[in-house]
Amino acid sequence: MAKMWAGRFAKETDSKVDDFNTSLPFDCRLYEEDIQGSLAHVAMLEKQGIVTTKDAQDIQEGLKSILKDINEGKLPFGQGFEDIHMFVEETLTNRIGDAGKRLHTGRSRNDQVALDMRLYVKKEIKEIQALILDFMKSLTAMARVNLETYIPGYTHLQRAQPITIAHWMMAYANMLKRDIRRLQNTYDLMNECPLGCGALATTTYPIDRNYTSDLLGFTQPVDNSLDGVSDRDYCIELCSDLSILMMHLSRFSEEIIAWCSLEFHYIELDDAFSTGSSIMPQKKNPDICELIRGKTGRVYGSLMTSLTMLKGLPLAYNKDMQEDKEAVFDAIDTVKQCLVVVKPMFDTMTILKENCEYACLHGYINATDCADYLTRKGLPFRDAYHVVGSLVGYCNKNHMALNELSLEQFKEFNEAFDKDVYQALDLKTCVEMRKVLGGPSQNEVVRQIQMIERFINERCS
Ligand code: ARG
Repeated sequence: MAKMWAGRFAKETDSKVDDFNTSLPFDCRLYEEDIQGSLAHVAMLEKQGIVTTKDAQDIQEGLKSILKDINEGKLPFGQGFEDIHMFVEETLTNRIGDAGKRLHTGRSRNDQVALDMRLYVKKEIKEIQALILDFMKSLTAMARVNLETYIPGYTHLQRAQPITIAHWMMAYANMLKRDIRRLQNTYDLMNECPLGCGALATTTYPIDRNYTSDLLGFTQPVDNSLDGVSDRDYCIELCSDLSILMMHLSRFSEEIIAWCSLEFHYIELDDAFSTGSSIMPQKKNPDICELIRGKTGRVYGSLMTSLTMLKGLPLAYNKDMQEDKEAVFDAIDTVKQCLVVVKPMFDTMTILKENCEYACLHGYINATDCADYLTRKGLPFRDAYHVVGSLVGYCNKNHMALNELSLEQFKEFNEAFDKDVYQALDLKTCVEMRKVLGGPSQNEVVRQIQMIERFINERCS
């Protein structure tokens, strides 16, 4: 097929170059954005008197028929096109003749591709935010019914202090809230229209960049044409946001993997969301969580690809920038796949309340509370800490929990102990005493849930 730039060249391109150069196999997914951008561009060309109304109408009808045919599967992308932009333009010219050749007046593929990517990333940010919100709804709903499901909280993966599953869930809900806000920040920063930047230095035609920017839903045109066609910082930001989101999902997955092992056994995944082994009949594996953890690396990879792709590029456009697409597409696809499956997996898992509570009875997770108790009785905290350290050592040797000591035994360690110590060491008391802002007490977690619910409602309205 003759290239649109064939005039300058005495030879056909080598087919190996064509194969190497083409981005159509992956940028074909930008067809809607490409057509949307062209429709706005031609509307502006007509308004400015740069093309006739007749040509503009033919172009618009032609573009719409292409969109319809692609959507209905009647127009395969085929082979031999350099990219989606050439595919749409050449198909248009085949369909409507010379008018099709006027579409590209006052425009370059450089501002065209910059526009298509921005439109696409904006759309995907919205979709990803909606998926995160869905998962947050599940977290808050599940938290509401687990306000009294006690589990040990951990540091160094050693039992530390008692919390509730609800408190734990709200930790993840807060991380996801920031993920949504980070994406929103990326969206707001990139919400400027590069159309009209041309190849690098705008154009000599009297185009109206504000008009196309408005038509396409941007807040304003990009203010400098070199910047508009040459930066992909928003791709880096998106990959960074998605990397952080995946990091959160991966930590969540890691905990679920641990919790459904027999060693913890705090939860049981639904059969529909677990897998078996080909050899060990007893196995029930948390593959979904392992895959989320594993796929996190792919998204980090996209971040590295886009950072490295841009670092040495002189202004303005360079073909290196074609490499932004597969990185960004893969990051988006991966994140969406993970979010789509993590929510129903979470919704259908069973929390084994008794096992969670049983784990709280071992490991001296009320030791801090014991020290706090003595402190309330007048001991300096450091002394109280020391007394309880000896108590724990004693209990450990004798295979006892703190609450199993008699009052006499307590008193041997310190006279300040009294019979109210048992109440102070009770699991529920230990949690309820932590009513400080951010803590695990029931009322406080309800407040945290309400904060997240308010955020969800504001974003959904
Ligand atoms: N396929 C190209 C890309 O993705 C489109 C822009 C091509 N522009 C150019 N001057 N070769 O970046």
